[in-house]
Amino acid sequence: MADQDVQTPVGEEPPALSVLRWDELPEGPVLVLLDQTRLPAEEVELVCTDVPALVRAIRTLAVRGAPLLGIAGGYGVALAAARGYDVAEAAGLLEGARPTAVNLGYGVRRVATAYWAAARKGAEAAEAAAVALTEAQALHREDARASARMAEHGTALLEELLPGRGYQLLTHCNTGALVSGGEGTAFAVALRVHRQGRLRRLWVDETRPLLQGARLTAYEAARGGMAYSLLTDSAAGSLFAAGEVDAVLIGADRITADGSVANKVGSYPLAVLAKYHHVPFIVVAPTTTVDMETAEGTSIVVEQRSGQEVTEVTSPRSGSTGGGGGMVVAPLGAPVYNPAFDVTPPELITAIVTEEGVISPVTGVGLAELCARSSQV
Ligand code: MRU
Repeated sequence: MADQDVQTPVGEEPPALSVLRWDELPEGPVLVLLDQTRLPAEEVELVCTDVPALVRAIRTLAVRGAPLLGIAGGYGVALAAARGYDVAEAAGLLEGARPTAVNLGYGVRRVATAYWAAARKGAEAAEAAAVALTEAQALHREDARASARMAEHGTALLEELLPGRGYQLLTHCNTGALVSGGEGTAFAVALRVHRQGRLRRLWVDETRPLLQGARLTAYEAARGGMAYSLLTDSAAGSLFAAGEVDAVLIGADRITADGSVANKVGSYPLAVLAKYHHVPFIVVAPTTTVDMETAEGTSIVVEQRSGQEVTEVTSPRSGSTGGGGGMVVAPLGAPVYNPAFDVTPPELITAIVTEEGVISPVTGVGLAELCARSSQV
């Protein structure tokens, strides 16, 4: 049935990916990103010397995924401070680069607040810039720790829901080390299951239109020696019908106070399928992705992206908003609906796994209690 089995002996670990790092070059500090638009063909670094370059990298998805956007936004503020740019202006540009992932604004505001607090206390510009960098580094480390905790909680939850067995897990978009200070969110759970020798198969949705599943999750699964198979998004239904999915694991870009989850477009249909087929639908996200200020999912601003991403089959590298320069697959001027995310209501979600623990069933009260344990929301 499955056409590919790439499982290698558990224990053979590849070197960790260098997804984002701060560097001090002779000409000044820079933020170095692994350019995700070039994967899986090439592992190429993108050097951001200023905030406009980082904003471009965010918009074109060279750097992407909710937790990593928060980290990048934080370092972006530190970069502005270190290079003597207007920090308030930089923070505004960064926060406005993409609207849906709440982590971006969280990271930007957290580092900017630390910078301004130092400046208010009379710190010199260089000293305040150093405070900003320290805060960005703290955020980076905390996300790595959160990732490890989510993996523990997520695997314990799977054992509780589906005791004593190996799993076929379905995932959507990309939620691994490429989006995180650590090994990711949903993918980190699958990776831990794999290390426990219990991953029968990771089903990887290709994730149209920008193919984060095919280009990035398959790349990470292959690197990790995991048994995986890629499928078109539209093949998920028949996979459920065949009884080949034990649980769905996805990440989140924003979780509102009522427990609604915005994630990559195509997540909501999977939740509906999972409900119909009585398969657990599990969301894995750090508490930095929870937005208690927004009451419900209907208020989430869903990013609408260029129609070219749909009318042309391409990797996003060739255009400033992700489309352009690819193979044209629709009539010239075809109108397009291209939301980057969709929203899944809490009643379709079996559990939300965070670094602070798990809530199931998903309720606003449960989410508030969980977030009260975290200093990060
Ligand atoms: O548009 P992207 O690639 O930034 O979208 C990313 C996703 O939707 C991820 O699933 C989400 O950020 C969770 S990552 C932990």
